[in-house]
Parts: sequence; C-alpha cells; structure tokens
Amino acid sequence: MNEIKIFCPATIANLSCGFDVLGLCLETIGDEMIIRKVKEKGIRITKIIGADLPLKTEKNVAGVAALALINKFDSEYGFEIEIHKKIKAGSGIGSSSASAAGAVFGINELLGKPFTRKELVEFAMKGEVVASGSEHADNVAPCLLGGFTLVRGYNPLDVIRIDSPEELFAVVLHPQIEVKTSDSRAVLQPMISLKSAITQWGNVGGLIAGLYTTDYELIGRSLQDVIVEPLRKHLIPNFDQVKFTAMHHGALGAGISGAGPSIFALCKGLAVAEKVAIAMTEEYLKTGIPADTYVSKINPIGVSII
Ligand code: HSE
Repeated sequence: MNEIKIFCPATIANLSCGFDVLGLCLETIGDEMIIRKVKEKGIRITKIIGADLPLKTEKNVAGVAALALINKFDSEYGFEIEIHKKIKAGSGIGSSSASAAGAVFGINELLGKPFTRKELVEFAMKGEVVASGSEHADNVAPCLLGGFTLVRGYNPLDVIRIDSPEELFAVVLHPQIEVKTSDSRAVLQPMISLKSAITQWGNVGGLIAGLYTTDYELIGRSLQDVIVEPLRKHLIPNFDQVKFTAMHHGALGAGISGAGPSIFALCKGLAVAEKVAIAMTEEYLKTGIPADTYVSKINPIGVSII
C-alpha cells in the first residue's frame, strides 16, 4: 500500500468538567487526508484545500506530528500529506487535532502499523503545540481512539478509552467566529480554590461513572464546569442563553466545546438532539452571527480509512 485516504473526525474536548483530560469523538464532521509513501525521505505537505494553513512541515500541525512519528521509527521512505479541511480552524471541535491525528494514523498504516493507536497519541500531541502552545491530548486521544477518552495522567501519558452509551447524541453549534485556542487559554487563571476543585473532580468522577453505568441523568448532572467556563464564556456571544435553551429543550447538559466558540449539548436520543439543535440555532441567530449546527452520534472508531 503506497497511498491511503482517511477520515479525521472532529472532537469535543473538556466536556465541561474535564479541562484538558476529557473528550469525545464525533461521527458526522471531519476532514479528509491523503497520505502517500514516496522515495524521498522526510515529510512534505503537498496540498491544503479548504483552509489557509502553512505548507511548511515544521509550521503545520500535521507536519510536526508526522515528524515526531518518523523520528521514532527509522523509515526508508518519506511521506506526502494532502489535507482537505472541513473543520474550521479555531472552531473548538478539534480542527488541529484532526490533522495531527490523521497524519500519524495514516503514516502508521503505510508503515505496517508499528505503533498502536494509543501510542500514536503521544506523536499527535506534538502537533497540538503548534496550534495552541501547549501539549494536551483531550482532542487527539478521542480522534485516534473513538468513543470517550480520559487522560488519566500526562507524565507518563495514560489514556483510557470509554465506550459511549448507545443512545447518547451530541449537538454542536459552531458560531462563525474564530477563537484561537491560545487566546482562550490566556484568559485562564493558574490557581483555583479548593472549593472549585472539589466540585470539579466530583463531576469528573460522576461523568465517568455515568458513562460506565449508562446513567444518562448522572452524565447530565456531571456536565458542569465551575473553573473554565465562567472565564471563557464571555468570548462566546449569547453563550448563557444558548446553554439555557439547550437544557430547556431536554439536553442532558451543555457547555463550551473545547476552547470555543462552539457550544455542545449531550442528549439522550436522536429526536431530542434534533429538537435541541433547532432551538440552540434559533437562539444563537438572535446575535446576528451565522452558525452551523451538527447532530452526531458518538463515533466509536475514531480516525478511519475511507
Ligand atoms: N483542552 C483544550 C482547551 C482543548 O480547552 O484549551 C482545546 O485544544
């Protein structure tokens, strides 16, 4: 096999309570990439369609992630990467992670799979640094592994994959404004109170327990963020009203998707998710800012060959 075409899904990171540690993989939104094995060693980004992103390998998240992989595996070949972006940069649904995860997944396939999907997370994380200035795996892990993922620890990296309850659907409202992850991280405070920490880790535990026991109400109760959301929500016009509307129409919980500006809601059943999506969109459009809304099942597979 000398060429591979892959689907690189969008993801929702943080899931309210789990800043930098929790994420889930979406099914209906994602980029496509074509990766070719070539004689000339090294990594070359040959084409980017759908976004104005750097072609220079060292400046591109896919390029940096790919370099991290080939630095650990002495290949006699090089690789060309073609990126077809469908996920907008700065949208909060893992645009850079999709590129980073797709690059390492595709190259690994063409090399005969020397690394497991879990091992690839570490390489993909290097790409994230280019986009956000910090190494975090809460988007790349669900993109590579599918389902829900928990980064139990970063040093050493310890990622746990969790199956999604069957009837869980995600709604994502993407306002057509860009919020750079680095800017969204700049508003955060380095210190938090013990009271907030107690609330937050109670919710992380509750969310994980809810996923394992298919307790939708517990999942919903646990989608709370007393640390990051209060600082970031001002970057998203009408956030409180959209969140309230989602809950009012039956969402289990709602919050900021990743670093924003996208807003997500989790719902039990497709019918509720579709109703919530319409209500969130109508509420958001009151701002005068256009928005795209998606409804998606949780993608159990992650990045895949097309
Ligand atoms: N956990 C990250 C953040 C996700 O919220 O900044 C975005 O890359």
